[in-house]
Amino acid sequence: MLNKFPSFIDAHVHLREPGATHKEDFYTGSRAAIAGGFTYILDMPNNPTPTVSLERLQEKIALSKKALCEVGFHYGTNGKNMDTFESIKNNPRVFGLKLYCNHTTGEMLIEDKKILNAVFKAWNSPKPILLHAEGNELAIAIELGRMNNKKIHVCHISQSYEVEMVRQAKKKGQMITAGVTPHHLFMTEKDREKMKGYATMKPPLGSIKDREVLWKGLIEGTIDIVETDHAPHTKEEKEKDPPAYGVPGLETAVGLLFKAVKEKRIKVGDVVKWLYENPKNIFKIPQGADTYIELDPEKPYRIGESGYETKCGWSPFDGWEAYGKVESVVIEGRKIMENHKILN
Ligand code: NCD
Ligand code: ZN
Repeated sequence: MLNKFPSFIDAHVHLREPGATHKEDFYTGSRAAIAGGFTYILDMPNNPTPTVSLERLQEKIALSKKALCEVGFHYGTNGKNMDTFESIKNNPRVFGLKLYCNHTTGEMLIEDKKILNAVFKAWNSPKPILLHAEGNELAIAIELGRMNNKKIHVCHISQSYEVEMVRQAKKKGQMITAGVTPHHLFMTEKDREKMKGYATMKPPLGSIKDREVLWKGLIEGTIDIVETDHAPHTKEEKEKDPPAYGVPGLETAVGLLFKAVKEKRIKVGDVVKWLYENPKNIFKIPQGADTYIELDPEKPYRIGESGYETKCGWSPFDGWEAYGKVESVVIEGRKIMENHKILN
């Protein structure tokens, strides 16, 4: 039976425009979002020319007009643009500040603790600071968040002891939230061995124990949201040595979570909490009740059976069984997908 859900929010996507539109752009990325049940997506700043100035932000806002769904942005910092924070922090299209404490796609790494501290101090906004921090970097960033009394969101948490760090910080009353990706919930380092580049991303896939702890952390509420970290790269880029970091995720997250519902590992309400209620609250997403999706959570399908909307054209979950393929999507009362077909 077709069920109605609020349309989902993905707080972490890389739509690659401008600068890498051979693998995604706002139009194709938004189609992937809609096909996957998301209509509000927050784009990351790690473009080849990173989003670290008002001009770059305005350029992205203009380019994003071709998107078929709502797109918001996380502003970036390279540790040298704190003087721009004032002019962008109240922009309604900006939902957070992204801080890279680890090497990945893009050129925004900050390692110096003094500079990190200066960034935390300068971000005078209730919008969260999003952290790409792995292992010890996370311990440092949590401490900086606490000392500066700033709201932080830990992106794509992936290791069991990181979940423990967040649990402890929450216990002490710190303003901290965390997100986990579908690939860290459904895959492990074994998949990386099999799939090589196609299962290579930052942070890397963990052990079976890490995966268990991530599920437990999510179910108990230490981890607040599921974020796809949709990071498309071409097959050619994934087959190179070393491969580019990142995997697409917008079209597969919902079907995988409804499979976990079908297997009675989680409840339908959990999916709504992790993909709608919590991201809406954390990032203050202005979405009303006239934006919704319909799907049948009991209906199985194979991932990839009708191709992909993402320009990169592949998924690490290709061929996996999933449940509840999105059938229709309505944005602010306007039907944008019907019978699995995007109407544009
Ligand atoms: C992301 C990308 O390709 O932009 N890659 C990834 O492996 N997650 C960058 C990032 O979020 O770290
Ligand atoms: Zn990312």
